[in-house]
Amino acid sequence: VTPYWTSADGRAVVYVAEALAVLRELPAESVDAVFADPPYSSGGAFRADRAATGTVGKYLSTEAGADRWPDIAGDSRDQRSYSYWCALWLSECLRITRSGGVGMVWTDWRQLPTTSDSLQAGGWVWRGVVPWAKPDARPRPGRFRNSCEYVVWGSAGSMPITDAAPLPGFYDATAPRHRVHPTQKPLSVIRGMVRIVPPGGVILDPFCGSGTTGVAALLEGRRFIGIESIAEYADIATRRLGETRSDDPSVPSLFDGGGA
Ligand SMILES: C[S@@+](CC[C@H](N)C(=O)[O-])C[C@H]1O[C@@H](n2cnc3c(N)ncnc32)[C@H](O)[C@@H]1O
Repeated sequence: VTPYWTSADGRAVVYVAEALAVLRELPAESVDAVFADPPYSSGGAFRADRAATGTVGKYLSTEAGADRWPDIAGDSRDQRSYSYWCALWLSECLRITRSGGVGMVWTDWRQLPTTSDSLQAGGWVWRGVVPWAKPDARPRPGRFRNSCEYVVWGSAGSMPITDAAPLPGFYDATAPRHRVHPTQKPLSVIRGMVRIVPPGGVILDPFCGSGTTGVAALLEGRRFIGIESIAEYADIATRRLGETRSDDPSVPSLFDGGGA
């Protein structure tokens, strides 16, 4: 498979394709980490709620101007098929990740048990859950706020102890204000998280949306492989990535020993 877009310095590529089709073509042990923000297939207590409305309406019903976005792909699986599908792509991601590398999967409270099951079904060693706390989450009278989304994380086999700096147990940030994607993650949170990968390392995001993981990776001196099935979002990702300068001259191109 040929990337849809490659950055001028060769440190980032984006594929426009179904994730599994590309994952199956990527070489074994060629990336240091997988940062996956899949469609959550959530947004309702019952199956009809998940499938009935488009994703933009489901997650952003109150946001002005949200109707300008196309729906994201793959968001209407029921719990069993979601779990099965996640295990499929997670096992491909495990094959592509070097031994001791890291797998990170975003989810919400509803899909948290399914996601930790799927990570392990895909063969990863489950190591924890890192919350992203949103101080501006919607208040719910008489109930607890659902203030957090979560990253379920694990490793490809054992994870040797190193002398790298310790990382936080949670991240705190408001949702991005001027979004270009309906489920865009805050750059500050992802910039913190990509520091789990050694400098110059390769990060794969199989559901890259507007490319936030890639922008964070480049800003932190890491390299990036993104996949997105909707061309309009892939174009937004490549524009954001193309506008991101990574100054560190020691970071090589993906084509000098990276995974692309
Ligand atoms: C939760 S969003 C990612 C948002 C991203 N983290 C950001 O900050 O912009 C998931 C993305 O995966 C894409 N997607 C869903 N299923 C896919 C598949 N099977 N292959 C590739 N992309 C897919 C959706 O279109 C959507 O843009």
